[in-house]
Amino acid sequence: MKGLILSGGKGTRLYPLTYTRAKQLIPVANKPVLVRVIEAIRDAGITEIGIVTGDTEPEIRDAIGTGKRWGVEITYIPQDEPLGLAHAVKISRPFLGDDRFVMFLGDNVIEGGVATLIRQFGESEWNAQIVLTEVDEPQHYGVAELNPDRSIKKLVEKPREPQSNLALVGIYMFDANVHDACEAIEPSWRNELEITDAIQWLVDQGKSVHPYVHRGWWIDTGKPTDMLDANDHVLEEIEHAVHGFVDRDSRVDKRVTVESGAEVINSVVRGPAIIGENSRIVNSYIGPFTSIYHDVVVEDSEIEHSIVLENSSIRGIAGRIADSLIGRNAIVRRSPIKPVAHKITLGDHSDIGLL
Ligand code: G1P
Repeated sequence: MKGLILSGGKGTRLYPLTYTRAKQLIPVANKPVLVRVIEAIRDAGITEIGIVTGDTEPEIRDAIGTGKRWGVEITYIPQDEPLGLAHAVKISRPFLGDDRFVMFLGDNVIEGGVATLIRQFGESEWNAQIVLTEVDEPQHYGVAELNPDRSIKKLVEKPREPQSNLALVGIYMFDANVHDACEAIEPSWRNELEITDAIQWLVDQGKSVHPYVHRGWWIDTGKPTDMLDANDHVLEEIEHAVHGFVDRDSRVDKRVTVESGAEVINSVVRGPAIIGENSRIVNSYIGPFTSIYHDVVVEDSEIEHSIVLENSSIRGIAGRIADSLIGRNAIVRRSPIKPVAHKITLGDHSDIGLL
């Protein structure tokens, strides 16, 4: 089996963070979402992975390279225009050949354990397998209607009037029949070749498409709040360990990771939380569900339920920062002007003053 990861797109809903960075490279619990996807595929025993890229290709190549670090071999497949998921499959044909493959959307984060599902498909006779999950607003997704025997009745991309609350999660498994499907379908109203339509074509041709209903969490990380939600889940899921330095005056919960080279001085860190490599937490409180990436300084401040990216600093902030996403090289410091609350989505290289 091979793996295919779709990693194009501009990430407009995550501006300003994604002006300067591919959204798939934003870390969740200190690991880029794209790396989590690569690891999930590798854990299913797959080593040949294609990544379909758009405008942000140079940055993605830079971060992922050959894939050797994760024990996989990456092939980059440039997609000139975002013409849909089925279009991405089409242009990946030379890489995929006639092999069975799993396709992942590179900005989706799903509860661990999908490796078994992928392996099962690899060993099965099914022509395709889709992953579904219950959502509150199905109209924003591809939606599946199932028959009483749980087989697929109909798949519709972003239906105005959804007939079920089962959305297609961004993980798909196919055999070579999908290539005929991608050739057969026409572009949708949004001028994309929809993978949902390709799967419907397989169903119409009598191919076996197995729907798997995922009961755990799944997050399509489009917006800042999605990043925070994904961060919450992953921080709860990972195994924590202290590799860095914690001084005697600090209190660090069990579910806290302190990465190597990090220092926690005279501070309290409540888990689940992670402090990245070479970051310094001094006279501060780091509350639950916080990810501090590498080379960050938090001094005389309190922060919880937030993500702070690399090389940023937070100093002398009186009120507690919460529910925030702070970009790279950002400076958050005390200022004489009075802000009442601290709720910020702060872009890369920003510099703002708080009370
Ligand atoms: C895509 C698929 C959709 C699926 C969704 C999952 O939507 O077309 O069927 O439910 O991903 O994230 P898009 O992100 O292109 O709007």
